[in-house]
Amino acid sequence: MSILIKNGRIVTAESDYQADVYIEGEKIAAIGKKLKVKADKEINAKGKLVFPGGIDPHVHLDMPFMGTFSSDDYSTGTLAALHGGTTMVIDFVLQTQGKSLKHALKQWRGRSNGNCYGDYSFHMAVTDFNEKTKAEIAHMVNEEGITSFKTFMAYKGALMIDDGQMVGLMNEVRKQGGMVTVHATNGDMIDHLIAKHKGEGKLSPWYHYMSQPEITESEASGRFCDMAHHTDVPAYIVHMTCEGALNQVREAAFRNQKMFVETCIQYLILDASLYKKPNFEGAKWVMSPPLREKKDQAALWSGINQGLVQVVGTDHCPFKWEQKLMGKDDFSKIPNGHPAIENRMELLYSEGVHKGKISLNKFVEVASTNAAKIFGMYPRKGCIAVGADADIVIFDPKEKHKISAKTHHMNVDYSGYEGWKVTGKCKTIILRGQVAIDDGKVHIKKGYGQFIKRKKISKVI
Ligand code: URP
Ligand code: ZN
Ligand code: ZN
Repeated sequence: MSILIKNGRIVTAESDYQADVYIEGEKIAAIGKKLKVKADKEINAKGKLVFPGGIDPHVHLDMPFMGTFSSDDYSTGTLAALHGGTTMVIDFVLQTQGKSLKHALKQWRGRSNGNCYGDYSFHMAVTDFNEKTKAEIAHMVNEEGITSFKTFMAYKGALMIDDGQMVGLMNEVRKQGGMVTVHATNGDMIDHLIAKHKGEGKLSPWYHYMSQPEITESEASGRFCDMAHHTDVPAYIVHMTCEGALNQVREAAFRNQKMFVETCIQYLILDASLYKKPNFEGAKWVMSPPLREKKDQAALWSGINQGLVQVVGTDHCPFKWEQKLMGKDDFSKIPNGHPAIENRMELLYSEGVHKGKISLNKFVEVASTNAAKIFGMYPRKGCIAVGADADIVIFDPKEKHKISAKTHHMNVDYSGYEGWKVTGKCKTIILRGQVAIDDGKVHIKKGYGQFIKRKKISKVI
């Protein structure tokens, strides 16, 4: 199968030019002006942007969490991602405390194998670091192509590790050429505040926000940066929300650390006032860390332009309304997470590029290229170049539309962005040389998505 995309405006992290793209099989075979090739299919991209497929390195599909499972499985989640221009996701395997990493990987493979529409990879979350776990790190890096290890500084009793385990893990991951990533919030402080609020009978979603003040995130982010500096491991902070945490990373940047930061689309455009909505509606946005203030949004947008924030993901972790109701009488029982896998690229374009906050090149960088580079997939993924996977979005920068749960493809019965006006639409999405979505219609089958083994981080950054 071959495809010729004609007359498009090609945008990458570095360049912006008019050319044709010729795809043969799964790969980009040629790029040039007025290419003289015969293709099985021609797509006229006049007036459209042509950029690399989005990569969302923070999603939770079919994940057991807080007494339930996230409501998008690998099929609905990766298909919704494709509709929104995201051709690859990185999901999280969670080690069960007391069990092995291999045991967890087997469970996650059982749910994901053969079920994905889009390409995917895994981070391995280490929730119990000990001598046995230590011995498994090399296997994950060298045999499984899983080269990033997620840690939690919160969710005590289920996912959290202490600082001794963190430093031990960092040393081993550095030795094996991997990267340590973190949910950086101070779990003990948060648990104390949750207990305090509950003791005072303060049980609404607002108190989820009040239990995780900015200091809980900035303190843990600083501590994580210091431990990563001490062990000299490449490190990455997921879902950063606030100015205080970003300032800790500024310190790390001064000392030239390999420290990377991801924020998520919701932290750039939504704020904590949503938790005040009546009738428990604030539960839709109960996630950890919580939404913050307008000043934090401004800090994060600046952080993107300053190069301190390299990635915009989603932390897509959807729960249906019925699941959110588990916390109707106690905010600490509301399953944490919100749906965004389908909305990330269009919202980031609309709120970022269209409204003049970031450049088009920066958009491609933070929505695709940097994740490919940081997580060991570049230049196979994250770029439009000869030899790269033909993962391509053809995008109409002018088309206006509204986000709604009535029209989205995520398996969740509300949207955190209901009625949001968006400028710019993903029209045609190509994944490894196949038209996956065209004008809302699906052209690939479940199982087309492949597991992508990633390179050692020490070889790429
Ligand atoms: O609220 C969130 N973020 N849910 C998913 C788990 C996590 O902490 O990333
Ligand atoms: Zn988290
Ligand atoms: Zn997450």
